Amino acid sequence: MKIISDIQELRDHLRGQNRASFVPTMGNLHEGHLSLMRLARQHGDPVVASIFVNRLQFGPGEDFDSYPRTMQADIDKLEKEGVYILFAPTERELYPQPQEYRVDPPQQLGDILEGEFRPGFFKGVCTVVLKLLSCVQPKVAVFGKKDYQQLMIIRQMARQFALPVDIIPGETIRAEDGLALSSRNSYLSIEERTEAPHLQRLLNEVRNQVLELGDRNMAALAAIEKRAVAQLAQRGWQPDYIAIRQQSDLVPSHDEALRAGEPLVILTAAKLGQTRLIDNLEI
Ligand code: PAF
Repeated sequence: MKIISDIQELRDHLRGQNRASFVPTMGNLHEGHLSLMRLARQHGDPVVASIFVNRLQFGPGEDFDSYPRTMQADIDKLEKEGVYILFAPTERELYPQPQEYRVDPPQQLGDILEGEFRPGFFKGVCTVVLKLLSCVQPKVAVFGKKDYQQLMIIRQMARQFALPVDIIPGETIRAEDGLALSSRNSYLSIEERTEAPHLQRLLNEVRNQVLELGDRNMAALAAIEKRAVAQLAQRGWQPDYIAIRQQSDLVPSHDEALRAGEPLVILTAAKLGQTRLIDNLEI
C-alpha cells in the first residue's frame, strides 16, 4: 500500500485511473470501516482510503484533541484489506490557508437532528468531503449508514454539485451484543459498555411499537418517541433525540403519508457518561 500525504503525489499516482473507489475516514479503524473497504472493492478498483481527523467538523468543547489516532494499527488493517493508496494528508496540506470557502448544506437537512445538537457539524463534513473527493476524483465513494444523516447530506451534495461520483451506502456493523461499531466506543467504561447495547434494543422496541400501531399518525409516533426518551433518561442516559422520520428527507411525516405507508427511520443520539453514541434503524 502506498501512503501518500501530498495532494500532487496522490494525483500523479491516480492519473489515468477512472474506476477508483474511495472510503474517507477519520482513522481508528474498526470492522465497520473495513466492511466499507470491502464494499468499495466490489464497486471499483483501485481502492483508496483516507485518514484525516477533520477539525472543521468538531465544535468547541468536542473531542478533536482526544479523538483516537492510531495510524500504525490502521495502516496494518488497510494493508490486509488490499487497499492500494492511503491518503493521509496533514492539516497543513489539506488546509494550507484557513478554509474560508465552506459547503453549507440546506438548513432543513443540515440543522436538524445531529445538526441541531452539533451546530456546524455538517458544514465541516461537507467541506472536507468535497475537498477529499476533489483530491481523489473517484468513480464511487462509500459511506456507512450508521451516520444516516451524513450519508443523505453527502448524497444530496454530490447530486446538487453534479459531482461525477456515485455515493454507495454501507450497512452498519454491530458487535455481537448489538452495539453499532464506532471509534467513540473506546471511550466507554466497562459498566457503560455493558449498558451501551440498550440503545439498539430500544430502537428495536420503537420499531415494534410503530409496526404494531393500528393507525399510524403523527400523534402516536410522537408519543412513542417521548416514551423512548423517558426510558433512556431513566436508565441514566442523556438523550439528545429519538426521532421517527421519513427515510426520504428525515422530516417528520404527515398523517396522510404515514397512512399511505411512508418508509420511516428511527434516529437517535444519546450520551452515556461522557460518550455520545448515535444509531438508527429503518422501519
Ligand atoms: O464519517 C466520518 O468518519 C467523517 O465524518 C468523514 C466522512 C470521514 C469526514 O471527515
